[in-house]
Amino acid sequence: MAFDIDHFAETSLPVKYADLDFDLFDEQPLDAQTLRSLRYMCDVEYHTSCFLRDLLVTPSHREEEAGGFMTVWNREEYWHGEALARVLGRHGIVVDYDEVKAKRVKLGWRAALGPMKQSSLSNLVGKDFLAVHMTWGAANELSAVAAYRRLSAMVDHPVMTPLLKRIAQQETRHVAYYTTSARRYLEASERAPKLVRLVMSKVWKPVGSGMMDESEVRHVMNHLFAHQGDELDKLDKRVQKMHGLDGLTIFRSAFARLGVPA
Ligand SMILES: [Fe+2]
Ligand SMILES: [Fe+2]
Repeated sequence: MAFDIDHFAETSLPVKYADLDFDLFDEQPLDAQTLRSLRYMCDVEYHTSCFLRDLLVTPSHREEEAGGFMTVWNREEYWHGEALARVLGRHGIVVDYDEVKAKRVKLGWRAALGPMKQSSLSNLVGKDFLAVHMTWGAANELSAVAAYRRLSAMVDHPVMTPLLKRIAQQETRHVAYYTTSARRYLEASERAPKLVRLVMSKVWKPVGSGMMDESEVRHVMNHLFAHQGDELDKLDKRVQKMHGLDGLTIFRSAFARLGVPA
């Protein structure tokens, strides 16, 4: 399966919601648990530009296709953040993109050192870094699809269910890019799968870990994935199908470490 980067760029549009009647939230507001999870997801979507910044100091930015993809991808994630911010706004919760960015800047040294650390680490492992980057991205996007689909089913809401499905649909294209690219780089060297196995089993954590408060990470992962062992297995199977990654159970393991009951 190939990924057509030109087709992706040409057909990339902001997630559509102008046709959805947001006034319905006045009569059918979302519950507090859902709003708390949406706040998290909105923040993570807005945070994509910081991921992009971190990635621009790695060997990935020298790869023309990866650079092209990440530019379009970054816009789509930003629009997801905008859509979720609109929903939160209707519930009196203000999420301002500039404020989110300012908060990141205030994270100070840790955030400032992030790209530097990533840069020296990625240069150490050279081109195999791309295999790590793409597999990491695939895991994040796979869980984004699962999270949006799950929440869409849980809320069963005339506005929220279709909106979350539309976001999930765009996330599936991100999955397609990252998994096809990961396959290519995993097959490119003998060292790549070994390195990826090590990083994914020891370092990978659910999206938002490290940037959001631990209490929020636990809330969201429990809210969406508690007693969803079969779903976690499905996600693990997608990763196991990649070259040299058989037997890896990153989702099962990471959620168990967070104390989410399977
Ligand atoms: Fe997104
Ligand atoms: Fe995505």
